[in-house]
Amino acid sequence: MKLAVVGAGSMGAQIAQQAALHGIDVALQDKAPAQLGKARDSNQGHLGRRVEKGRLSRDDADRALDRVRLTTDLGDAVAGVEFVIEAVFEDLEVKRSIFAELDRQSPPDAVLASNSSTIGISKLAAATKSPERCLNMHFFFPVLVMDLVEIVRGPGTTDETVDRAVELARVMDRTPVVLNKEIDGFIVNRILHGATQEAYRLLDAGVASFEDIDTAIEKGLNWPMGPFRLGDFSGLDVTYNARLHMYRTTGDERYRPSPQLEAKVKAGKLGRKTGEGWYRY
Ligand SMILES: NC(=O)c1ccc[n+]([C@@H]2O[C@H](COP(=O)([O-])OP(=O)(O)OC[C@H]3O[C@@H](n4cnc5c(N)ncnc54)[C@H](O)[C@@H]3O)[C@@H](O)[C@H]2O)c1
Repeated sequence: MKLAVVGAGSMGAQIAQQAALHGIDVALQDKAPAQLGKARDSNQGHLGRRVEKGRLSRDDADRALDRVRLTTDLGDAVAGVEFVIEAVFEDLEVKRSIFAELDRQSPPDAVLASNSSTIGISKLAAATKSPERCLNMHFFFPVLVMDLVEIVRGPGTTDETVDRAVELARVMDRTPVVLNKEIDGFIVNRILHGATQEAYRLLDAGVASFEDIDTAIEKGLNWPMGPFRLGDFSGLDVTYNARLHMYRTTGDERYRPSPQLEAKVKAGKLGRKTGEGWYRY
């Protein structure tokens, strides 16, 4: 099986490595040579630590690293592949131009998948002449650890394309779930946003402190982190902007960002990265 991964950032690098660990030959492409070097070093570090802990043999680690071929040339990356996963910046125009290019340059029967977290495949498939072979394949960070892949069918995607994506996820030792409709946030982020918004509503209504809401969710639902701790971890600006985007695009009051969240962001208290958010670090 031959796979091309386009974009060697935090996601693309590990998607490529996870596939290579399971015997797939991967061409990892990025327009920036420095990103390719960084991807290789970072994967070497991750697999090296597995070898030190006795969880992977040196030979298997070396073989998996060698199975990821690095290139800056898109045509070279997609030559003879059965599958392409795009993981470049979250920018609609950049992704559309890559999909148009992939449609021209990859073998006509190759599946074209996007790892986008927010862009439904119909917007990218529209830049191709073959929407039937396009879908979303949404991995989670860090891909070498997180087991889930959300596979999202667009209006033009065929059953065969979905089956091939499910099969690829399984070969990569990841658990696929299939969404039969394009929806904002897919399953995981949609439910996470719903729960987080409810936590902010309780805070804004003065029902409980943010610490007690976190404790309730951590002890009562067994989530590893409550919504406020998780917000500090991922960056409160990220949480705020995601809500603002949903509120502006849908006009739905359910998505309006909490005034207390907005105040934190305006004060530059963005969580761990700034030393203070809901908690101090
Ligand atoms: N980071 C996450 O937690 C996460 C989780 C799931 C999905 N995603 C999605 O994965 C995608 C990538 O995210 P990331 O965090 O890895 O981004 P990143 O910024 O770490 O990497 C993006 C890479 O794309 C490369 N790139 C940009 N334009 C290119 C082009 N025209 N051709 C080739 N390479 C190009 C950049 O050089 C960079 O290496 C986004 O669509 C994002 O929504 C991210």
